[in-house]
Parts: sequence; structure tokens; C-alpha cells
Amino acid sequence: MKQKLNNIQIAIDGPAGAGKSTVAKLIAKQLNLFYIDTGAMYRAIAYKVLKNKIPLEDEHSVSQIANTTEVVLEHSEERTVWCDGENVTQAIRSPEISRAVSIVAAYVGVRERLVELQRREAERGGVVMDGRDIGTHVLPEASLKIFLTATLQERANRRWLELVKAGKNVLFEEVAQDMQKRDRQDTEREVSPLEPAQDAVILDTTGLSVEEMVAKIIALT
Ligand code: DC
Repeated sequence: MKQKLNNIQIAIDGPAGAGKSTVAKLIAKQLNLFYIDTGAMYRAIAYKVLKNKIPLEDEHSVSQIANTTEVVLEHSEERTVWCDGENVTQAIRSPEISRAVSIVAAYVGVRERLVELQRREAERGGVVMDGRDIGTHVLPEASLKIFLTATLQERANRRWLELVKAGKNVLFEEVAQDMQKRDRQDTEREVSPLEPAQDAVILDTTGLSVEEMVAKIIALT
């Protein structure tokens, strides 16, 4: 660790379903840090775009929406996500939003606005931030950078189980296909694509329990 515990920055990147948010939350709790879910911010913008019936391919209008939307992540146990004062915590997890979000997240105007908000959040104190470009772009000076991976089969299975537990009636194959498509969009986009930072520790979480993932990361702090 390069910094004192009260202002450390831990960046956790990786594809969907690699376990980022689960481990980030637990690490934040153990080390008494703020947890910042940057994916939730992109999801909130996608929510607003769909709600306002803006065509996803209309980059200009989508970027305008991003610039005028107030996204707030509550640092409470419930981790409520607010989008212009509306509680969107549940709504942003729908398969519809998951499909739209990669398109919205590829636009430079959207990214510039959200990265600015993310850096501002990180100035408040020690943080664990998860996303796709945290180690490479948002917090390049982070004390610790982790890149989590797992096989597509395992990642899709985790996401499918989450959805089923939440009472959603979805097919595993559909979840796997959506995830594969999203990974491709996130990896192939021009602005801040999903890739490990040069100084990131790469951790394959296939077959690991949540406790094992957390222990491995804590051991690196
Ligand atoms: O982590 P998640 O599934 O909630 O992320 C939602 C989408 O947002 C994902 O398709 C990629 C995008 N994203 C991004 O481009 N950069 C980030 N820092 C976080 C998420």
C-alpha cells in the first residue's frame, strides 16, 4: 500500500459477474472505506435514457441527459441509488437496463461526466471503487488495483442465480448471451475499454468462494 488507510484507493475492475461488487462491499466494510459502484451510475443514466424514450443510438441526446442528471449513491447499508431524486436501486438491475447500459457507457460525453463525479467521490476519503476503467483511467494512482476474472459459464451462473433469487423469471442461456455481448461491447469500445491496468493484480475467481476472494485481496493491502 502506498497510502495511509484513511485515504487509500482500491480499484476493482473486471467483466460482469466476476464478483466485483460483492467483494468490494465486503472489503469496504472490513477496512472502513466508502464503496463506490460506478456501474450503478452508468445504469442510472441508461434508466433515464429509456424512461425518456431517447433512442440509444442518439449519442448527442444521451450525453446531454448524462450532463443534466443528478446521480447519487447513498453510503448507507441499503446503498440506495438516486437518479434525479427517484429511488432506482431495484429498477437499474433489470435485464433491459443491462442490455442498454453498454451502449450508453461507450459514449465519451457520458464517461466524462461520470468520471468527474467518481473522482469527486474519491476525494471524500478512502474508497473501494469498482467498474471497468478504475485502475486504467478513473484512479490511475490507486494504492491497489485488482482485475477480477472468471469463466463466462461461472459469471453467467452467478448473475442468473442473483436474478432468480430476486424472483425474476429468466433463462440461463439468455443471461449468458447478454453477458457475452456486454463483455464484447465493453472490451471493444474506443473510450476507456475494459482492460487490466499494467500494474493490476489479476485474480481468477472461478471456483473461489466470496470469503476466499476477499481474503486474497485483503492480503494484498
Ligand atoms: O458493473 P455493472 O454490470 O453494473 O456495469 C454496468 C455497465 O456499465 C457495464 O456494461 C459496463 C459499464 N461500466 C463502464 O463502462 N465503466 C465503469 N467504470 C463501470 C461500468
